[in-house]
Amino acid sequence: MTAASTTHSSATPIDLRITPRDRRFGRDEATPRWWHGGNPYASALYNALSATFPEGEAFFVKSVRKHQAGVDAQLAGEIKAFTTQEVIHSREHLAFNRRAADAGYDLSKLEAQVHKRLELTRTRPPIASLVATMALEHFTAILAHELLADPRHLGGADPATAELWRWHGAEEIEHKGVAYDTWLHATRAWPRTKRWKVKAKVMLFVTRNFIVDRTAGALELLRQDGIAGPKAIAGVLWYAWINPGMFRKIFFAWVKFFLPNFHPWNEDDRALIATYETSGHFAAAEPARKVRSAA
Ligand SMILES: [Fe+2]
Ligand SMILES: [Fe+2]
Repeated sequence: MTAASTTHSSATPIDLRITPRDRRFGRDEATPRWWHGGNPYASALYNALSATFPEGEAFFVKSVRKHQAGVDAQLAGEIKAFTTQEVIHSREHLAFNRRAADAGYDLSKLEAQVHKRLELTRTRPPIASLVATMALEHFTAILAHELLADPRHLGGADPATAELWRWHGAEEIEHKGVAYDTWLHATRAWPRTKRWKVKAKVMLFVTRNFIVDRTAGALELLRQDGIAGPKAIAGVLWYAWINPGMFRKIFFAWVKFFLPNFHPWNEDDRALIATYETSGHFAAAEPARKVRSAA
């Protein structure tokens, strides 16, 4: 399934095609406990992120779909394809999280924290869920960009697990404008200043929570590895901020969110998806299955 391309007034490319790739990863193998090149800090940080996806992405889909009434034909098609992509991402990360549990990790504290954050958002008006989704989808898209742009992020990782992350990253780039365009549609009657204030405030809030919660989640998993105290904190901070330093490297892309006239597609990074699809990793994965309808 692809998103239709008709009339559209946002910066989203008119020829954008959002294509769910129904793939499965690592189902018939045990994932090593420290699957990321034997590095406990790297494995912990990615595992902490994966723990958020099943409930988090279901929340994103619900938030966007709640505001889809009256969108144009292109965005309607994109929302449908986005939904299918996120549902499949949740399925694959649920399977990955089970393999992490099989390797000995207990993710329940991390999952409870995600649930707590989302429950709090659900007590607010529905537009709050959409703004949070829009901000987190941008955050995910810039992480995905960095992940695909620099192969060092997944260097030495278990091949099937690295492929799961590359595949997820490519699709996050592909649908990065969907929540944003839905938010533009839902707030079309708002003054520009109100829009900016709300989105800036929410982005600061979700960024703070993302960094604090993922770091705490990684530290909890390291505690389960028997690594605690200053050694664990230094290891996570070094990996996240210094080398390879994913959080540091997305800083300038993150700042652009606050500029006037920002739109996720002001930077057309579809070349990263094309490179991924011709890299050999994509071709080596299990063949894509027929995609189910998201409707
Ligand atoms: Fe996703
Ligand atoms: Fe997404």
